[in-house]
Amino acid sequence: MAILVTGGAGFIGSHTVRLLRALGREVIVLDSLERGHKKALLGAELIVGSINDEALVEKTCRQHNVSAIIHFAAYKSVGESMSSPGMYWNNNVAGTVHLAEGALAAGVQQMVFSSSASVYGNPRTTPIAEDAEIRPENVYAESKATMERVLSWYGETHDLRSVSLRYFNAAGASLDGVIGENWSVTTNLVPLVMKAALGVSGPVQVFGNDYPTPDGTGIRDYIHVEDLARAHVAALDYLAAGGASTTLNLGTGVGSSVIDILDRTANEAGHEVPYEIVERRVGDPAVVFADPSAAERVLGWTSKLTLDDIVQSAHAWHASQVSN
Ligand code: WQD
Repeated sequence: MAILVTGGAGFIGSHTVRLLRALGREVIVLDSLERGHKKALLGAELIVGSINDEALVEKTCRQHNVSAIIHFAAYKSVGESMSSPGMYWNNNVAGTVHLAEGALAAGVQQMVFSSSASVYGNPRTTPIAEDAEIRPENVYAESKATMERVLSWYGETHDLRSVSLRYFNAAGASLDGVIGENWSVTTNLVPLVMKAALGVSGPVQVFGNDYPTPDGTGIRDYIHVEDLARAHVAALDYLAAGGASTTLNLGTGVGSSVIDILDRTANEAGHEVPYEIVERRVGDPAVVFADPSAAERVLGWTSKLTLDDIVQSAHAWHASQVSN
């Protein structure tokens, strides 16, 4: 019985594929390689193709006796989603429909879905629990909220059982430095701080220091990518044991500011990280962090790695890529 991992050549996908294989699970990856990187798969079996190809999904599920799917494949750039929304409706939302149709045609009825805390938009209160209002503020976030609803309805109409995992801010790299994030396409803070720390870019642009927070900069819940990988395995096991469909936050429950990230990176790098304060980024909430208690209750999962683990592993990974 194999696990089909869509988007397995991506950042969180590749760390999850590696963990599954280390645990002795049979894995088959479906990735278009449009934004994923084959090298990150470390030799895992790969089918290059699209989740929109229902026939390919069905054939793959039948040929590999797939028991469950982890669905990572999606575009994830907030800015791109607002300038090219059709890409997000087609790839993220329609792609999920085609994936579900192909899977169900092959009798696969268990799916772990890669959702996002961005579905909460600008939260009214923190920490954020799963019953907080869903208020997407961009097409990317709306696509994730819609994908959750699509899967929920497939649960009503076709008994597809799913666990939607709402990631907070995924960051870091494998602790042994073997795989990590590809910073060439990211706009996220941690890899951008590493670029500045390693002298690969100019100063970090800090988007505002006049927020109602202790040091004035934005606060987020940064969670290590290896903690996220463990949560996906726990969600697979939960579904395999007959667990009902559910939606769970994946965060640490701890908020850290932009300055926190800069200070810890400077400590790790042994020198200051150049940055400059600029205007706020439109749409940025001041404070976002999770109430992670439901994932602990339902999956028996909690985050174990710290912000220092994130900074240390990200810095080591990106430094290794610069020197290659
Ligand atoms: C983090 C903090 C910025 C860049 C986004 C998506 C979310 C998820 C994670 C996929 C904020 C500040 C950032 C910079 C800065 N992605 N910042 N200068 O916006 O919390 O969430 O990525 O699921 O869906 O919305 O992440 O890394 O962009 O920002 O000051 O150059 O860093 O203001 O406070 P964000 P981020």
